[in-house]
Amino acid sequence: NMRNELNRLVNTVADPEARKAFDAEMQSFFYLFTRYLAEKAQSKELDWERIKSPAADQIVPYDQLPTNVDPSILNKLAVLKVNGGLGTSMGMTGAKSALEVKDDMTFLDLTVRQIEHLNTTHRVDVPLILMTSFNTHEDTLRIIKKYANQQLRITTFNQSRYPRIDKETLLPLPRSATDDKSKWYPPGHGDLYNALMHSGVLDQLLAEGKEYLFVSNSDNLGAVVDQRILQHMVDNNIDFIMEVTDKTKADVKGGTLIDYDGNIQLLEIAQVPSEHTEEFKSVRKFKIFNTNNLWINLKALKRIMENEGMELEIIVNPKVTEDGTSVIQLETAAGAAIRHFKNAKGINVPRSRFLPVKSCSDLLLIKSDIYSLEHGQLVLNPHRMFNTTPVIKLGDHFKKIAQFQQRFKKIPKIIELDHLTVTGDVYFGRNVTLRGTVIVVANEGQRIDIPDGCVLENRLLSGNLTM
Ligand code: UTP
Repeated sequence: NMRNELNRLVNTVADPEARKAFDAEMQSFFYLFTRYLAEKAQSKELDWERIKSPAADQIVPYDQLPTNVDPSILNKLAVLKVNGGLGTSMGMTGAKSALEVKDDMTFLDLTVRQIEHLNTTHRVDVPLILMTSFNTHEDTLRIIKKYANQQLRITTFNQSRYPRIDKETLLPLPRSATDDKSKWYPPGHGDLYNALMHSGVLDQLLAEGKEYLFVSNSDNLGAVVDQRILQHMVDNNIDFIMEVTDKTKADVKGGTLIDYDGNIQLLEIAQVPSEHTEEFKSVRKFKIFNTNNLWINLKALKRIMENEGMELEIIVNPKVTEDGTSVIQLETAAGAAIRHFKNAKGINVPRSRFLPVKSCSDLLLIKSDIYSLEHGQLVLNPHRMFNTTPVIKLGDHFKKIAQFQQRFKKIPKIIELDHLTVTGDVYFGRNVTLRGTVIVVANEGQRIDIPDGCVLENRLLSGNLTM
């Protein structure tokens, strides 16, 4: 059974120190696994009828936050990026944060610029902490190496590495502790709390006098330190803040905050019974979603970790390995921690605080002239007539980052674009300008080349067309 198999894995480690650490990791995994089995046996599902929208006072509108801020509280702040994931949906095999997103800078470079700017502007010393995984650690170190002699302090720590589970046998995939990368997985960003504790980083921060931690996804370029939110947190003694934002029809995936028997809780799509997924995706009942920008009181966190512990709802993530084996990964989400904190709130923030790159369509928008950079922060081009960004839908031929890079010789100018849809085998030349609504459809077996210097305004191109 699982217990025996894990013991066998532990015994493949010769070095006593390393074995101890690995054993502890497998213990945590086993604990998660037993919880999973128990929940499965009880078929413990949420009772849909008891789910309510959060009460008005649980979600604070952003414009009610104080505008008068005291910059000295920044001295008690640290910034953490969860950086353990691969951009698998964009066909990446390394850390997504190592992707060059703008002006030859990676996500990590931009984050460093943002915090350096904060520190020099306010003469404070906010450190940057990066949670990596076995998948992203090397990429991350390579990028931050160049900042070693700079003012900004950067700390990295590794999250857990758990064995993938064979879906049929419910046994671990790896045969030894050093077995191939593909046999393991990082168990989601909810692993943050355990990893912070076990790495010693939590105690180190507290010892340095840090009291607040701002956590966000490493691919969210809108997640800059917001002093109004921090001030509100300090003034009201809030232990945990989740930044949420208004959902649009395109946001079908993110978790939402709910009221469950009077408690504020995160609800992820994976927890929703299948007959209710449409309702979950709709904007009517669930008006907001989690940006994964979280503000955590470190003392409160330590208290919870030492007392009741941080049990988080298990998200079962089914995958198929390259050789066709069906596996499951047991994961958790960082935002689910909200229910453990006594004084927890949501803050409804402007959409500009949630600017992730989840697809190559997002990447096109961010690389384009719609945005420029100021101190590592994206700002909307003031020449854009409307305050909205264009809607971009690139088809499957643009799914992977390598395809994207091949198909755009250069990023088109889109400052006057409203809507772009591209389907099929399409290539863009240099200095292309797109305006209004542009639709390009190459049918099966056909290819469309948009030539250098081409201007397309309110055009529909289709068929086998070489212009
Ligand atoms: P997600 O996995 O939710 O979304 O990660 P994604 O980045 O779009 O990933 P793909 O394309 O589905 O693979 C959200 C954030 O959480 C981090 C990621 O690095 C990202 O910043 N993360 C995710 C971790 O730190 N650890 C994990 O185990 C998983």
